Order: sequence, then structure tokens, then C-alpha cells
Amino acid sequence: MPKFKLVIQTLAALSLGAHAATLPAAGDPERGKQTAQVCLACHGPDGAGMSAANYPRLDILDAGYMAKQLRDIKAGTRQTPIMQPFAATLTDQQIEDVSAYYASQSATVPQPPEADPELMALGRKLVYRGDWDRYIPSCNSCHGPESRGVGSEFPALAGQHASYIESQLRAWKDGTRHNDPLDLMLAIAERMTDEDIKAAAAFLAAQPAE
Ligand code: HEC
Ligand code: HEC
Repeated sequence: MPKFKLVIQTLAALSLGAHAATLPAAGDPERGKQTAQVCLACHGPDGAGMSAANYPRLDILDAGYMAKQLRDIKAGTRQTPIMQPFAATLTDQQIEDVSAYYASQSATVPQPPEADPELMALGRKLVYRGDWDRYIPSCNSCHGPESRGVGSEFPALAGQHASYIESQLRAWKDGTRHNDPLDLMLAIAERMTDEDIKAAAAFLAAQPAE
């Protein structure tokens, strides 16, 4: 074998090896199910979460979005004292696996209690049309036609617990959540009143997840 060919093969093998060491393999839901044992007390075995305790629903989320959030929580760029210790124990591979597991689930979540019709009407308006007088774009314009999520960047909101949606909008408003690269949500949340936040959250929570 010519010497240069051997050198090239060795280099290729080395760089492949380095690649494998830094990038985890695609998430495996079967392995993820094992990892999820420490998560289910809060998020449930099927990712239903818990509205009263503000534990988000996970089954509606894209695996890539979840993995990014888990990496951010582990690194501390998304602050949440409750979740941080759990994210901190996960390896990069476990993050991919557990995200693949929850994304493959389909949880049964009880329909939230009926909200005030005026609040629901305001929520529908914000979700479908936004409020251009106040520079609030519609939620659907980024989160998808029914706010069921788009790719790994724009998470699903339809069917998410109202308490969690509210908590996140407040977190952007008061500056405690700031891990999205373009600060898109900060710009929107800061223009929303308390009533807007309640209304959008109540409306979205009542929408079917799929
Ligand atoms: C003690 C309860 C608890 C446990 C256990 C727990 N979580 Fe969480 N998790 C939370 C809470 C509370 C939040 C919302 C944090 C916030 O308000 O920002 C959350 C948020 C998340 C998010 C972000 C969701 C989103 O919509 O952005 C993901 C993903 C997640 N958890 C996955 C996991 C995984 C995977 C495990 C197990 C390794 C786990 N959680 C264990 C309580 C918990
Ligand atoms: C310009 C695009 C854009 C618009 C419009 C938008 N969002 Fe978002 N939203 C995002 C992005 C991007 C994220 C993900 C942030 C991240 O990666 O942490 C997000 C995340 C969220 C989350 C967090 C979900 C979770 O699982 O943690 C909530 C809640 C949310 N948006 C609510 C809304 C509501 C309500 C509206 C309408 C009033 C809205 N968004 C309009 C871009 C947008």
C-alpha cells in the first residue's frame, strides 16, 4: 500500500474516532426509558407532567428541542433549581436517549377546567392573530399553524399545561430565562400584560396536542 494512502486512512480513522468521542450517537428510546426512571416522579412515565406542580408536559416536544434544553439546564444557562440536579447527572448520550424516549410517547392529559370565555377569546386572538398595535406577533407564526411546534427550534405549546406556559412567559419577562439564541421570546413576553399571559396560556392549554 502506498505510504500516503496509509497516512490518509490513519488520519481518517483518527478524526472519526475524535468525532465519536465528542458527538453522542442518535438518541435511542429504549435506552432512554431506563434513564427516564429518575424523571417519572415529576414528568410521568409518558411525559404527561403535572399541571398543579408546574412540571411541564414532555411528550409533545421535539427530541432536539428537549436535548437542547437539558444541555442548557445542565450548563446553567437555563436556570431552574428544581430540574438542575437531575440534568446535571446526565451524560450527553443519556440526554439524547431520554429526549428520544419522551418524544416517542403520547400522554393522556385531562382537559383543563373551562376558563372564562372572555379570557379564552383574548387567548385565541393572541395565538392566531397577535396584537399588532402592541407589536405582539401571533404565537402560531413561529410555533406552527396550531402551535404544535416546528422542528427543534419552536416548541409545541398546544396541550402544554397553562401553569407552565405562564411561568415561562414570566421568566422571560423578569429575565430569569434567557437561553434562546435570538431573545425572540423575551421581546414578545415583555410586551404581554398579566392578562395576556393568562389568556394565551389558558387558550393554548385547552388545544388538542395532535
Ligand atoms: C423534581 C421534579 C423533576 C424531576 C425529577 C425532573 N424534572 Fe424536568 N422539569 C421539572 C420542572 C419544575 C421543570 C420546569 C423548569 C422551569 O420552570 O424552567 C422541568 C423542565 C424540564 C424540561 C424542559 C421542558 C421544556 O418545555 O422546555 C425537560 C426537557 C425536562 N424537564 C426533562 C427532564 C428529564 C429528562 C428528567 C430526568 C432525567 C427530569 N426532567 C427530571 C421538574 C422535574
Ligand atoms: C418570533 C418567533 C416566536 C413567536 C412569535 C412566539 N414564540 Fe414562543 N418561542 C420561540 C422560540 C424560538 C422558543 C424556544 C426558546 C428556547 O429555545 O429556549 C419559544 C418558546 C416558547 C415557550 C417555552 C416552551 C417550553 O416548552 O419551554 C413558551 C411558553 C412560548 N414560547 C410562548 C409563546 C406565546 C404564548 C407566544 C404568542 C404570544 C409565542 N411564544 C410567540 C419563538 C417565538
